[in-house]
Amino acid sequence: MSPDREPAVTDFRDAEAVPELHEVDCPPELREEIEKAMSRYPDRRSASTPALWAVQRHYGWCSQEGIRQAAAVMQVTPAFLEGVASFYDLLRLEPLGRHRILVCHNISCWMNGADDVLGAFCDAAGIDAHEADHGGASSEDGELFVSGFECMGACDIAPMASIDERYYGPFTDADAATVIDQLRSGAEPMPEKEIARRPAAGGPEPPPDPRVEEGV
Ligand code: FES
Repeated sequence: MSPDREPAVTDFRDAEAVPELHEVDCPPELREEIEKAMSRYPDRRSASTPALWAVQRHYGWCSQEGIRQAAAVMQVTPAFLEGVASFYDLLRLEPLGRHRILVCHNISCWMNGADDVLGAFCDAAGIDAHEADHGGASSEDGELFVSGFECMGACDIAPMASIDERYYGPFTDADAATVIDQLRSGAEPMPEKEIARRPAAGGPEPPPDPRVEEGV
């Protein structure tokens, strides 16, 4: 580094020091969620991912403030948690959009039209499709983040997408505009396409066959 060049300034205040709880204003519900996660493991650091997930759910991303709060609850350094967060695609270290739409473009979804579905989501959201397919892109108003994504293990509903961490599919191109309108208006996106509500494909278990119960 040249002598007149300033060293890079880290965004994290005291990233290497463990913050005390009284130094951060941790929302009680966030603290409770992190403590609950810690109680499941003999080593509190094992709760790092669920703690960061809780931070992201609370703030929409792993904000510096949220990471410091989690670090204070866990009694680890913010730098440690930032290191964990930077490893996982699904943990965001910058605000990317209130709603996150990850369109799978891996083999099963691709063979079933994922490229067109991704393009339709981008058109409806006003996002550049090339950018979305290469790391993701946000709408100008910051409401929507759309990204191509690798296989999410739900190939049986191809072409599918994860919307705000819930799986939906199979999607048609026309569905994309409907979903974007619903998200912008605060409505639930196409509940009939949510995997958790389907009687198969990982959804709720159907009632047992009465013949099984009766032992026939
Ligand atoms: S290929 Fe899309 S979920 Fe597996």
